[in-house]
Amino acid sequence: MSSISKAARQLRILNRCKNSLLNVRFFSDSTLPRQPISSAATDSSPNPDQLKKNAVPSSLKHPELAKFSAIADTWWDSEGPFKPLHVMNPTRLAFIRSTLCRHFRKDPYCARPFEGLNIVDVGCGGGILSEPLARMGATVTGIDAVEKNIKIARLHADLDPETSNIEYCCTTAEKLVEEQRNFDVVIALEVIEHVADPAEFCKSLAALTVTDGATVISTINRSMRAYATAIVAAEYILNWLPKGTHQWSSFLTPEELVLILQRASIDVKEMAGFVYNPLRGRWSLSTDISVNFITFGTKNSQ
Ligand SMILES: C[S@@+](CC[C@H](N)C(=O)[O-])C[C@H]1O[C@@H](n2cnc3c(N)ncnc32)[C@H](O)[C@@H]1O
Repeated sequence: MSSISKAARQLRILNRCKNSLLNVRFFSDSTLPRQPISSAATDSSPNPDQLKKNAVPSSLKHPELAKFSAIADTWWDSEGPFKPLHVMNPTRLAFIRSTLCRHFRKDPYCARPFEGLNIVDVGCGGGILSEPLARMGATVTGIDAVEKNIKIARLHADLDPETSNIEYCCTTAEKLVEEQRNFDVVIALEVIEHVADPAEFCKSLAALTVTDGATVISTINRSMRAYATAIVAAEYILNWLPKGTHQWSSFLTPEELVLILQRASIDVKEMAGFVYNPLRGRWSLSTDISVNFITFGTKNSQ
């Protein structure tokens, strides 16, 4: 490819990125125009020949999985290595509750707003997100590539009748695609920075989402601020996370994530940042997406 056509191609990509972000609505609790309720029944199943043709490579990055396996016993220790996720949970659930209720026309103020929704929690770890989703009425499948995580998740969910019906499975998104599973909602929080190929991973998440269903992803921005806070401060100064938990080069910028999702037929409709208030010891939703951010997208019919 000549350098001129390469430059033209890069310019086109940048413009598409810019347009995607301009179309994204930053998260707020105001009411959006209502959208039709999605249903697994309306989604056509892929035919087996197509699946073979589109077979995706594995998303597994084994050194990453080994790190999670080594600390699997600590998932439910709210003061342990997963403390940041425990502390962040109410804030990310607020985003999920609000965006899903708007999209699926559910009442966000009722006790079980996700009744009737089929949700897969990809990279569920010990189930700290899967459980509240089940308590909010969703039919939840939690999958993780680490067997120990799934064992811990199963044991913990069985302690409560409201969560004991969660289906946990040690598998990957791409394997579920091969099994032709699909869901109203596909969630992957803090996982994409640990996979081998984020674009392929997003294609699998999209293939698992029914047309007009929702895909929610959270991750860390590849910014200097994220390097300073999510790696240097969290891993080396405050010891919130084991050293080496994150690689800065594996982070994605919001523009990159929007573009990758767009190519996988997911239109990102809302985005929010998470900011930490050290005085209150709490996270809150913000328009500041410079470090931690979360996206809500819907699958288009292409
Ligand atoms: C940081 S944890 C996030 C856990 C959970 N999503 C949460 O936010 O509470 C990342 C999880 O993703 C899992 N994981 C990493 N790569 C994966 C893959 N390719 N497929 C499935 N799970 C994966 C890890 O085993 C780990 O449990």
